[in-house]
Amino acid sequence: MQGAAAVGALTALFVFLVPLLLLFRHMRREAAALRLETVRLTEEPDALRLVQISDVHLKLLRVPMPQIVPLLREAAPDVVILTGDYIDSPAEMDRFVEWLGALIDFAIPAPPASPAPPVPTTSAAPLAPVTSAAPPAFAPATDTASPLFLLCFGNHDHRAFDRDPARAKAFLKRIKRLGVVVMEDRTLSFWHGGKLYAATGFKDAGQFPYDARAAFRGLPKAVRYHIGFSHNPDRALDLARERADRPPELFLCGHFHGGQIWMPFHFEYNCLRKEKLCRMGMRRGLHSFGGRLVYISRGLGCVLFPLRLGSKPEITLFLIR
Ligand SMILES: [Fe+2]
Repeated sequence: MQGAAAVGALTALFVFLVPLLLLFRHMRREAAALRLETVRLTEEPDALRLVQISDVHLKLLRVPMPQIVPLLREAAPDVVILTGDYIDSPAEMDRFVEWLGALIDFAIPAPPASPAPPVPTTSAAPLAPVTSAAPPAFAPATDTASPLFLLCFGNHDHRAFDRDPARAKAFLKRIKRLGVVVMEDRTLSFWHGGKLYAATGFKDAGQFPYDARAAFRGLPKAVRYHIGFSHNPDRALDLARERADRPPELFLCGHFHGGQIWMPFHFEYNCLRKEKLCRMGMRRGLHSFGGRLVYISRGLGCVLFPLRLGSKPEITLFLIR
């Protein structure tokens, strides 16, 4: 009898534990399986190349920088937009600033291993300048070939500094010192290929009311294309209440992590989340809503567990007319 019980126990172990361990291993691998997604909104050869990076969640990030850099070089962006959720506590501030600095340096080739290889005749990633030679007064103060970096914050970032606003100010200062433009209810216009573009960053819909007057201040009357971005997709509901002809034409956001860990019957969206857009069926990827395109990134990192299922981390390249 004892022998039969042991065989039973071993069988149960094999039937339940082994698949569970395999699933766990798969989910850990998926959390590191970064993909470069491309959203082609034009076929024009001189398109504006815009990269979105969302939901970094540095604490449980399974995608290391050496995996991100080659994809960024492949994307060769003119503009990089980060759409929130970087840290969970002020203690992660230093690490994030360091991470952001490394991200900005993506176009800088790694130092040669010794002995030094011959100097290449072509650059690995020639990046187009964002501003024209003579930008107007409202254009950003960038005059180099480096991409323009724009950033807004997410619910996790705001919560991290809830009890320590003084450190929030220091965090902002350090981000700005890297040359990144913080876009919280702010519009910025820039030149690319002789055409004027505009970007508007909105504060997180989960924490702040919609403030169109502040957000659109300084928006030029005629721009080639207008990009909006925020962390929480529900900001698109506020934009949809604007007149249909009101910009932006494309709205970028994240927050949902594409579900991060797949659940049947959209359980997370229907029962665990209070956001409206996901209940309306807009959970990831490109949608047409409120007279504009809305893109919801699956993000880069993880919350709660360093695991993903059915939702690979992404960096997204948009080709814009
Ligand atoms: Fe997030």
